Amino acid sequence: MLWVMRFSGFFSAAMIMIILSPSLQSFPPAEAIRSSHLDGFLGNPITDLPDRFCFRKAAVFHNADKCGFRDNRISGKTDVCDPSLVHVAITLDVEYLRGSIAAVHSILQHSLCPESVFFHFLVSEINLEYLVRSTFPQLKFKVYYFDPEIVRNLISTSVRQALEQPLNYARNYLADLLEPCVRRVIYLDSDLVVVDDIAKLWTTNLGSRTIGAPEYCHANFTKYFTASFWLNLKFSGTFSGRKSCYFNTGVMVIDLAKWRRVGYTKRIERWMEIQKSDRIYELGSLPPFLLVFAGHVAPIEHRWNQHGLGGDNVRGSCRNLHPGPVSLLHWSGSGKPWLRIDSKQPCPLDALWAPYDLYGHSH
Ligand SMILES: *[C@@H]1O[C@H](CO)[C@@H](O)[C@H](O)[C@H]1NC(C)=O
Repeated sequence: MLWVMRFSGFFSAAMIMIILSPSLQSFPPAEAIRSSHLDGFLGNPITDLPDRFCFRKAAVFHNADKCGFRDNRISGKTDVCDPSLVHVAITLDVEYLRGSIAAVHSILQHSLCPESVFFHFLVSEINLEYLVRSTFPQLKFKVYYFDPEIVRNLISTSVRQALEQPLNYARNYLADLLEPCVRRVIYLDSDLVVVDDIAKLWTTNLGSRTIGAPEYCHANFTKYFTASFWLNLKFSGTFSGRKSCYFNTGVMVIDLAKWRRVGYTKRIERWMEIQKSDRIYELGSLPPFLLVFAGHVAPIEHRWNQHGLGGDNVRGSCRNLHPGPVSLLHWSGSGKPWLRIDSKQPCPLDALWAPYDLYGHSH
């Protein structure tokens, strides 16, 4: 339990810094705070980090000749608005950090044009920019501060604790957080690895839809909402005339331009407000997405979200792959490969995650 105490001390110090720092308070809560404003969080960013923040430096990945992407050699900087970039958004939080780092590593390894991928990292506790920079020295990325207060009042307290991390809801605010010139983004959970070229997912045709995701029409859609939801037509009527299917919100291609235009963030928030008073579902961030988008999703091949591999940690159950090709492995569910590997009780498929793990000291 030593790290818990060390970390909570570290965390309190960071919180005090936030409270004391007038420059942070002056930002409107719904706006992304540029990473440079968070730089003062840690005295010495590398040496102050607890052991669990220790990652080896990844190899440097270069674009193939035919990528045709060039950095601006004069400024040496990448313009986030460059239209040839592939944009990926991932959250960075202390519990899933090892997973996020492995996800990034996997994307770089399998990309023909890794230098054309721009990462948008969402954080809400501490600034992990130094850690990302030291692990991936060449990475194109930006860190955004997601203020937990934005959703604090919208989250009902009765729901399962693990699903109530405010950062789980950050995917709802990508359209506000990311620069307006970023018109499309791939949102990815932190407990997955990509084993194919992310550029293929990027070029998904969304047609007239705002989001794309693999759909699962055989899943029992009823169970994601309470009986009282289905009995109240005022609520369940929202699904009438829609062929609603379950989809997993851990892998989504999002048309941010359309999202901003229609104002989907507000629509999702409206359902979260209803949940506070009427208890229409049990889970956390997923059901509001189903309420707004189910039946209006551009279907993506199932190979892009082989989900459920986490299984159930309590019963120690291991999952198998679904039949068919695999481009992305997703350890959704309560078991995480890094925890099982550390406890020397890995599931067979955890061996597919391990090669991307960068956790630990370099030797
Ligand atoms: C779907 O889930 C609901 C609620 O859990 C249950 O009552 C119903 O029997 C299920 N339907 C099927 C076909 O399994």
